[in-house]
Amino acid sequence: MKRVYVWTVPTRLFHWLFVAFILAAWISADEERWLSIHVAFGSALAGLLIFRFVWGMVGPKYSRFSDFNFKISELKEYLVGILHPSRVYVGHNPAASYVMIAMLLTAGLAIVSGFLAYGIQENRGILAFLHTEAFREMDIFKEIHELLVNALWVFIAAHVVGVIMDRFLHSSEATLTSILNGYKNKEGDNAALSLLQKIVAVVGIGGSIGILLYAFSIPNNPLILSHTPKVDYKKEHPLLANECASCHTLYPPTLLPRQSWVKLMGDLSNHFGDDASLEPADHRAILAYLLEHSAEGSKQEMSVKMMQTLENRDIIAITQTPFWKRTHRHIPVEAFQSDLVKSRANCKACHSDVEQGVIEDNAIKPIAMKG
Ligand code: HEC
Ligand code: HEC
Repeated sequence: MKRVYVWTVPTRLFHWLFVAFILAAWISADEERWLSIHVAFGSALAGLLIFRFVWGMVGPKYSRFSDFNFKISELKEYLVGILHPSRVYVGHNPAASYVMIAMLLTAGLAIVSGFLAYGIQENRGILAFLHTEAFREMDIFKEIHELLVNALWVFIAAHVVGVIMDRFLHSSEATLTSILNGYKNKEGDNAALSLLQKIVAVVGIGGSIGILLYAFSIPNNPLILSHTPKVDYKKEHPLLANECASCHTLYPPTLLPRQSWVKLMGDLSNHFGDDASLEPADHRAILAYLLEHSAEGSKQEMSVKMMQTLENRDIIAITQTPFWKRTHRHIPVEAFQSDLVKSRANCKACHSDVEQGVIEDNAIKPIAMKG
């Protein structure tokens, strides 16, 4: 029986790691508090893709891009005669070549857009330097990222459908099992690895697994580091920390616009049913600080989104704002009524960093979603 070794170990390893990392990234995209995990897998995928592009240049026969078939005429011929192919493609047939390149390119662009969204919108990771005044209202990258990921799923589906069709149409060729054992039942030269190729494979695949381990084991590593400074209100404004956090969470001034703070501070004697009145001097000092650090002047994603979605600007309850309601719409009502939380306004029960002026995805407590 004809038999040829097509996929060497590194090519097969790439394939299965690519599958595993994409699935892991996709699952971890599900909840905001898993974002660091998502980014860790995205970073490892970036390493893996760089390896695959180098492999496409210097790798063994069949894995090289020069072995792919991109001629439109051959693609047509292949698709028209799919039942009885006139030419034998040992590596990628023309249809598979297009799908393969499309997958690699969209995955690459999805990762770049992901890092852009993470840097510009979240002020995190290696592109956080792009989180500037100029990019303040750029929430486009997250959408581009999602679009590219959807395109990637389409190509993945095309790939899987192609392989399954091939399984039925050309079952004797054993294409499906070739990604497990490397062999197809065709005629051709066996693929073999040179020393240089072995080194490239160890560095490339080892490197991408290394990125993953690094991202998981080193807290606050540059890949996921937040560049939004935390505020120690007890030091920065002891008065605010004492007077406005005695009954409830210390709400970050950056979460409401100036007009809201003016209104709220204008009626402290009847403050949500409580008397929270202050000495005139303390009152002036706190109001001045709140106005100076209100949402208008903040580059934080939460402030920008708060401002973009506010309808009337003199709302004084954060929990009544469209932004707050939208970000918490999936949380079951029971979660807010539980003994640990008790009130929607009890932010710190769920956000362990809110009293430091930030609300990071990875600081959302796991109890937050339980009823
Ligand atoms: C005597 C207790 C008390 C003090 C002192 C106090 N508050 Fe409050 N505050 C409350 C109560 C009670 C609520 C309603 C909380 C709820 O809905 O669970 C509230 C709610 C709020 C809310 C709206 C929370 C939401 O639902 O989004 C803001 C904002 C707020 N307070 C700001 C301040 C500021 C600023 C100060 C300091 C000047 C302050 N509070 C001092 C008792 C107090
Ligand atoms: C019962 C727990 C709970 C309480 C109480 C709570 N939150 Fe949240 N909050 C969450 C969860 C969970 C998410 C993530 C929602 C998601 O991913 O769909 C979230 C998301 C957010 C976000 C968006 C974070 C991001 O990066 O997307 C902000 C801002 C926020 N909360 C602010 C607040 C503030 C301010 C308060 C208090 C007035 C508050 N939350 C009270 C659980 C809570």
